[in-house]
Amino acid sequence: MHRIEPCRDDGQLREYIDAYWRRGHVLAHDERMFAFTYRTRWVNRSAFPRGTSVLGVYDDDNRMLGFLGAIVAPYPRPTSYWLALWHVLPELKGTGMGGQLLARMQEIALAADGWIGTFGAGPEALPVYLKRGFTVRAGRRWTYQPSDRPEIAMPELRHAAERLPDSAWLAHRFEQHPVYSYDRRPGGIFRTETNEWGVVTHCVRLEENWWNDVNAAFKAGCAQAQRIGRPYLMDAWSFECPGAGWTLAADDLPSVFHPPQARGNLIYAVGKPFIPTHIHKGDCDQDRPNVLATEPSRVAAVQYSR
Ligand SMILES: CC(C)(COP(=O)(O)OP(=O)(O)OC[C@H]1O[C@@H](n2cnc3c(N)ncnc32)[C@H](O)[C@@H]1OP(=O)(O)O)[C@@H](O)C(=O)NCCC(=O)NCCS
Repeated sequence: MHRIEPCRDDGQLREYIDAYWRRGHVLAHDERMFAFTYRTRWVNRSAFPRGTSVLGVYDDDNRMLGFLGAIVAPYPRPTSYWLALWHVLPELKGTGMGGQLLARMQEIALAADGWIGTFGAGPEALPVYLKRGFTVRAGRRWTYQPSDRPEIAMPELRHAAERLPDSAWLAHRFEQHPVYSYDRRPGGIFRTETNEWGVVTHCVRLEENWWNDVNAAFKAGCAQAQRIGRPYLMDAWSFECPGAGWTLAADDLPSVFHPPQARGNLIYAVGKPFIPTHIHKGDCDQDRPNVLATEPSRVAAVQYSR
């Protein structure tokens, strides 16, 4: 027999992540990243009494057989579950457990007139979301080169029920991150890192009026790369082309989701009852260290004048 319950033991979950999801995974090894991800202040304690927004599958001996984690955030609905990590023991795959976990999380989200979805649905999960009636859309990676063509604003065609992230969420996500430093500007939020590939500026949020801030960040990042003689890249993830100067990333360009290697330039977003109008790299758990051991303790943001 097995049962599905809110996570009863964070330590047991972290051991499961380390053993079955990925050895050395940051959520298994960094308590602050675990809390940042699964214990946000938006977690509803009546659904998750211990404050960890993860559902586990347990057997009669309380052994964990699988889990589904969610980052609880106040957007795109005031109570939203951004799914992050979903796994059942390999020998139990295809026996209905993963589906039951998703169904339970859906019930919790819908009971709160909320939202459920993810940015980063993998190939094994995608058919399940499709079967369950989620809306699916491909986010693509774009790279930037300054352009003197006129700015094209990102279209604002929001679903009637959609809410943008509020200031409390933006402060949590981009000012209180346990590992990364972000540069917040009116037109966007940026994180610049130096890695094995070179210097990379991630546009982790782009607002409608991104033009000036993107160009300023590009200039500063490019200058930093030149100083140390390394290649430079500015990228962003988006459903549609963000505007002038942005082109689809080349297939052989390494993704800098650690460690840098070519992983393609397509990430699937799914949502219910709708999909957000825009998707950004800073959504869900896309912009985070992956395996702790390979990470510098804190990557300084590039400072630039406006
Ligand atoms: C993703 C995962 C958690 C799903 O769990 P699972 O227990 O294997 O899934 P289930 O057996 O409950 O299947 C869920 C539903 O999807 C359907 N389904 C599964 N694979 C399908 C496929 N390839 N095509 C169509 N439908 C499929 C099942 O029929 C089932 O539908 P039902 O509930 O209406 O019967 C599991 O495969 C896993 O651990 N994968 C490895 C980790 C991973 O890839 N995680 C997702 C990362 S984003």
